[in-house]
Amino acid sequence: MVSHYYTMKPNYYYITTPIYYVNAKPHLGHAYTTIVADTVARYQRLKNNQVFFLTGTDEHGDKIVKAAQSVQLSEQEYVDNISFQFKELWKSLNITNDQFIRTTDTFHKKTVQDILQKLYDAGDIYISEYEGSYCFGCERYLTEKELTGDGTCPDHQKKPETIKEKNYFFKLQKYLSIWKENLLANPDIIGPDQYYKEVIGMIQELANIGEDLSISRPLSRLSWGIPLPFDQNYVTYVWFDALLNYLSALEYPHQEKFTQYWPVANHLIAKDILKPHGIYWPCMLLAAGIPVFSKLWVHGYWLGMGDLKMSKSLGNAQDPLALAQKLGGNDLLRYFLLREMVFGNDTRFSDDIVYKRINGDLANGLGNLISRTTSMIKKYFNNNITESTQRHHFEKTLNNRLAEISENYHKNFSEFKFNRAIEQIFQVVNYLNELIEESKPWAMAKENHPDLYPLLSGIMRGIIYVLLYLKPVLPETTEKILNLMNFYCQKSFPVSLSEIDLKESVLENFPIFFQRLDVKETETI
Ligand code: MSP
Repeated sequence: MVSHYYTMKPNYYYITTPIYYVNAKPHLGHAYTTIVADTVARYQRLKNNQVFFLTGTDEHGDKIVKAAQSVQLSEQEYVDNISFQFKELWKSLNITNDQFIRTTDTFHKKTVQDILQKLYDAGDIYISEYEGSYCFGCERYLTEKELTGDGTCPDHQKKPETIKEKNYFFKLQKYLSIWKENLLANPDIIGPDQYYKEVIGMIQELANIGEDLSISRPLSRLSWGIPLPFDQNYVTYVWFDALLNYLSALEYPHQEKFTQYWPVANHLIAKDILKPHGIYWPCMLLAAGIPVFSKLWVHGYWLGMGDLKMSKSLGNAQDPLALAQKLGGNDLLRYFLLREMVFGNDTRFSDDIVYKRINGDLANGLGNLISRTTSMIKKYFNNNITESTQRHHFEKTLNNRLAEISENYHKNFSEFKFNRAIEQIFQVVNYLNELIEESKPWAMAKENHPDLYPLLSGIMRGIIYVLLYLKPVLPETTEKILNLMNFYCQKSFPVSLSEIDLKESVLENFPIFFQRLDVKETETI
């Protein structure tokens, strides 16, 4: 007899955010990306996958030197200070990253130098003279096409400087066509689709220009960087340094974490850094003989005043923590960001939009459902709720829809269509609210109707279903509410209400969750 041994291998999942520049304090734009990554990490953990969630700070380069000088601090003091602010912000926003990497970490510098040496030895790095338009905001040379009509950088609203210097170059051109073929064969590597197309266009444009990528800065102009291992007169170009954080965090070239997590690497970025991630990074990986990441997820911008990309330099940035506090908690901010933005598109931020979304969906929708159900249980059943042997007939109707709702939720989540995944669950919220309107439990109570108890206990199980699915989006509130309920459910994501068992419990002191935001009180957002 042949015996089979099965080992339960966990599915690994690796999610990264960009490592943020420490030239300014974090704002809502940074918080959005990190909150998305956190939501995905929580979702994957609920699916029993083993997740590695990485974020951190990008601490070298011209920008940092200028920022440190402006406040009369040494570079190290300056980066320590702002990096700490990012770390603290993620703590306050309840972000569950597994690691916080800094490009000034010694182990990171070592990985960068190892890869540089490897590419240099292979002949993929050479020295040459170059003159071009350098945007200090982007920390790279820009092509004519990338500039606006009057020659400014569209992201930083500043004219780039003309710089001429001798530098080391990475043979980008050698790898462009290989990467393009790779992409054409696997268009899903970059999503949403519009960004895949944009990258294909950029590859073509770079191939037409025919230039390689400058990957060094002379020490005479910039000392705040990682020295090139093969020429101490130069430091590494900030993007070449920064992109490698995704590997150094996995302790590359050590194999353990790398073999677990690299094959499932999901990079999350906004479209401002599409070129370095969609082109430089895969070409660097190809040159180093390392497989390309499995997915690059690209989102659009939060637009602040003037419908311009929210940013510190344009003065239209929001402070995420102050905003979360004003709205009444982290979860309200998360909900707004995840529900309002169509992943991939630009989205406008304004007080009105925030109030409408939160009051409409959370206060009037979910909050109202929870508060009226629990107050009816209090009023009619003295707060006592337990499993009813009898099921109200609505459960059958709802269960018929839940399988599809659940499937759509997972499909949308896996495609980073968070707004749609949330919408699916709110179909259940709306269904239950309508059910209350139609079945009028208050009238049933007057008649002592025998269906009242199964109706309310069924709605309670419906609420639990909703809260379980909203866990990645509203981690703090769902935990608080679910902890007040005594129930059993074997699965993280049940597909039918019959998988949820209410245990005998008394719902005492059930507070009101998701109160309506008073526009006057929050006017100063
Ligand atoms: N240090 C580089 C990234 C290196 S990754 C190897 C960098 N840093 S950054 O501080 O400028 O961060 C850019 C990222 O912050 C964007 O890609 C996005 O994730 C987030 N955002 C900054 N402003 C944003 C908006 N207005 N809207 C949405 N996301 C925004 O680039």
